Amino acid sequence: MWGFNGSCLQALKANLTMAISLMLVAFIVPLVGAQVPHWGSCPEPDVQASFNLKLFMGRWFEIGRLPTQFEKGGCMESNFTFKTNNSFRVVSSQIQKGTLRTIEGTGVIEDQMHPAKLGISFSYVLPYSPYWILSTDYVNTAVVYSCTDVLRVFHLDFAWILARTRTLPESAVDKAKETFASKNIDVTRMIATNQRGCDE
Ligand SMILES: *[C@@H]1O[C@H](CO)[C@@H](O)[C@H](O)[C@H]1NC(C)=O
Ligand SMILES: *[C@@H]1O[C@H](CO)[C@@H](O)[C@H](O)[C@H]1NC(C)=O
Repeated sequence: MWGFNGSCLQALKANLTMAISLMLVAFIVPLVGAQVPHWGSCPEPDVQASFNLKLFMGRWFEIGRLPTQFEKGGCMESNFTFKTNNSFRVVSSQIQKGTLRTIEGTGVIEDQMHPAKLGISFSYVLPYSPYWILSTDYVNTAVVYSCTDVLRVFHLDFAWILARTRTLPESAVDKAKETFASKNIDVTRMIATNQRGCDE
């Protein structure tokens, strides 16, 4: 067949896939900044069982996150407001160089079979991004994960530890990190959110 044997053709295909992937990484990575792409498609972690959207509503402070381009300030928080059984409003804010910046979005339960798999969009022109509640007790902490496949070649993920208070004891932060790790989500690069001086 065309002078190639099977394995040679396969090697060529693999090289081509690799070349295209590297090109994608080169073009997309600058757009997403600090995000590190991981090879392969998104993991499918278990999410919070029998998730109760209403109990999740209200104010959550960001304690830690995987580094992202679009969050550069401090004092990150989100205020979730219940709209219907499967939709909510979210107002997220941060303080960047002394200026309060807020952004409003809408959220939905995308699949009633998995109510903890929320989707959030901050613009009418953008599709819902996954916002999966991996674990929460509603009153202290929440462990949130978002992952997007890029052509099934690699994926970009975001992870957040949220709390009802601006700070969490180290033991609670460790426990949240263990939750990610137990689901094979690498949070070794997670950084602590600056929540100092936010209420002044
Ligand atoms: C959160 O949103 C609700 C509904 O819009 C509002 O009543 C409440 O004051 C907000 N809380 C904070 C802390 O912004
Ligand atoms: C929301 O869900 C509750 C309980 O399942 C149900 O009683 C209520 O009618 C629902 N409301 C709407 C607006 O769908």
